[in-house]
Amino acid sequence: MRIAISTGGGDAPGLNAVIRAVVLSAEHRGWKCYGIQRGYDGLLTFNGVVPLGPEQVRGITHLGGTILGTSNRGNPFHYVTRGPDGVERENDRSGDLVAAFQASGFDALVSIGGEGSLAIAYELWKQGIPLVFVPKTIDNDVSGTLRTFGFDTAVRTATEAMDKLHSTAESHERVMVVEVMGRYAGWIALSSGASGSADVILLPEIPFDIEKVCDKIRNREAMGRHFSIVVVAEGARARDGNIVLVERRGPGTSDRLGGIGSQVARAIQERTGKEVRTMVLGHLQRGGTPTTYDRLLALRFGAAAVRAIADRCFGVMVGLNGPTISRVPLAEVVGRPKNVPLDSDIVATVRDLGISLGD
Ligand code: F6P
Repeated sequence: MRIAISTGGGDAPGLNAVIRAVVLSAEHRGWKCYGIQRGYDGLLTFNGVVPLGPEQVRGITHLGGTILGTSNRGNPFHYVTRGPDGVERENDRSGDLVAAFQASGFDALVSIGGEGSLAIAYELWKQGIPLVFVPKTIDNDVSGTLRTFGFDTAVRTATEAMDKLHSTAESHERVMVVEVMGRYAGWIALSSGASGSADVILLPEIPFDIEKVCDKIRNREAMGRHFSIVVVAEGARARDGNIVLVERRGPGTSDRLGGIGSQVARAIQERTGKEVRTMVLGHLQRGGTPTTYDRLLALRFGAAAVRAIADRCFGVMVGLNGPTISRVPLAEVVGRPKNVPLDSDIVATVRDLGISLGD
């Protein structure tokens, strides 16, 4: 068996652990692995297929990033190239990709990615590539799995940031607004906000009323608590506002979100007269060494993907469901991003703790 591995979309801590688990599990069965570099570009635009054996994956479990490189601009169905005239044009290059995959003599593909990569994998599988998908993203927004790896590490980073911001906010009697990632899902904001003792958490799932946010800050003020920590998910929006974008991108690539934190900060300052500072955690959340939880989940996903290949079970995603890793048909999860359920116990917990959700 010749197994190809590809990492696509934004990187997440734990990618290297998956690669290692796939390679060692394959080696264990006498199979060979090959890494496609920079998403699918290693097959589409340059000679970027590298053999991966135990030697190549030694000592990488704890390393952030991906040894294969990745890209969130390489959707083969909407492949964008810049012509000599400087104009960007989009082509469907999926046929080229399938042909290159077959010409390389691969028997199976392990595709590791998030929501965007999942949609691509589903289409590639329909075009005949035998593949198993491994869900990765710090956003935790892939359905069919309770957790994606990378999430726990991102939440740790965001929580630690809040722990640090508390002392400076208190010393200066300021409001600190912390913008965190997560796209259209509030998992990072909710989990880090609860763990980091935020006073307000604004989620994409609950459009907020800025007056309610300010009420919380004023109430704390009245109780002698002269500082507040406000966590804002990048995809949060006011009831009468829109999601704030840095950049709108073309088809096949998701828009870049960001900027809601400074809008919320400005509104709080204007309404309460408090001094407010904004901090955008940004890509720090994607870096660093994966937590033990993420490493183990990544290793389990990688090994489970190879077991699925051994069973010739393709067109599936491996997912954490209950205590074990199961196989979920891609058709059941594609195009169904997983949001924070408003009736979940974590939302109830946050409300019981007195944290405002801005509603
Ligand atoms: O999907 C992961 C993620 O980190 C999102 O939380 C964020 O919106 C996005 O990727 C940022 O992507 P880029 O790498 O294009 O800045």
